[in-house]
Amino acid sequence: MIKSIWLFLLLSTLLLIACNSKNEVLSELPLVESKGLKYISPFPFGASLGINLLKTKVVYRNVVTKEFNSITAENAMKFGALHPSENTYFWTEADYLVSFAKNLGIRVHGHTLIWHNSLPLWITNFQGDAIAWENLFKAHIQTVVTHFKGSVVSWDVVNEAFNDDGTLRNTIWQQHLGNDYVARAFQYAHEADPDALLFYNEYGHEYSSAKRTAVNNMVSDFKTRGIPIHGLGLQMHTNHIQSDANLITAINTAALTGLKIHISELDISLNKDNNQSLTLTDALAVLQAAKYKVIVKAFAALPATQRYGITTWNVGDADSWIRGTYNRPDWPLPFDDNYNPKPAYQGILDGLK
Ligand code: G3I
Repeated sequence: MIKSIWLFLLLSTLLLIACNSKNEVLSELPLVESKGLKYISPFPFGASLGINLLKTKVVYRNVVTKEFNSITAENAMKFGALHPSENTYFWTEADYLVSFAKNLGIRVHGHTLIWHNSLPLWITNFQGDAIAWENLFKAHIQTVVTHFKGSVVSWDVVNEAFNDDGTLRNTIWQQHLGNDYVARAFQYAHEADPDALLFYNEYGHEYSSAKRTAVNNMVSDFKTRGIPIHGLGLQMHTNHIQSDANLITAINTAALTGLKIHISELDISLNKDNNQSLTLTDALAVLQAAKYKVIVKAFAALPATQRYGITTWNVGDADSWIRGTYNRPDWPLPFDDNYNPKPAYQGILDGLK
């Protein structure tokens, strides 16, 4: 009897030590304190936002208010959200974000006028001729840009027009409008709001030299033809395995255009291989922090006139598109599920030093 009590005491003691040692490992990293990125960064720092989160989650609003001076609608300004049927525009959600920003005196970046995703059925089923397609294309761009004129200071005019091999993506827009639809999108947007800064937004700069070259060649062509373009959005949906060199090359190659550079959708996945049993460790958190530091440091080294800003793609890990899209555990953002700053946040601070 006494033997079994001793054994129980021994086992529970061992278990307690094991748990404590694990807690000690997890709490090893220092807590991050900051007055807010927008006060520390010399360039705008922001996030894309979900309108429902903004409306319903106080802690979300508080973090956004404290940290950011530039916001992007994650979904509320996309074609399908704003223009659900041919003769109907829906402004309510996007206007909510614009008035939130106005109350805080912070910037709104518009995302995105023309993309091959998030299209309403009336577009994907549209049966008009080339002139009808051109008219609906121009009408959407100019109606949306006009509605937000003076509130949305910059736009992702076209999103993701290239394939990773540098060829033009065979999208519904390219099929019905021809290869030069990208240039005309910029012209139509500029006509509607000559003061708006017009960006071309893309992903993959950090892993595809063909795409980097295609984007920069397009910029050169636009400059030669007098097509109004002011900036490049580098989405930078990347991961902790991506090399520092590739991340830095992506930013510096885009900057060769002389345009404003926006790291427009930054997140750093820790589970690119979809490991369903992966757990977040201090080691992974520290590797992610190092990558945030590399990206922020490289961006901060650009000429001030070219630093349009850094925008993460939403705020806390639980809000990230990655978890739902790939159905996997992941922790890609600077804030955790409870909006506490992670080591990644410290990595951003370190990159700003
Ligand atoms: O709002 C509807 C809801 O009413 C419905 O019940 C639900 C179920 O179908 O869908 C909801 O809409 C979803 C929307 O996100 C809002 O949550 C869409 O299905 C879903 O496709 C959409 O995903 C977004 C995706 O773009 C496609 O638009 C992601 O949140 C968003 O993070 C992602 O962002 C893109 C950028 O715009 C462009 N760069 C890549 C990036 C990641 O894919």
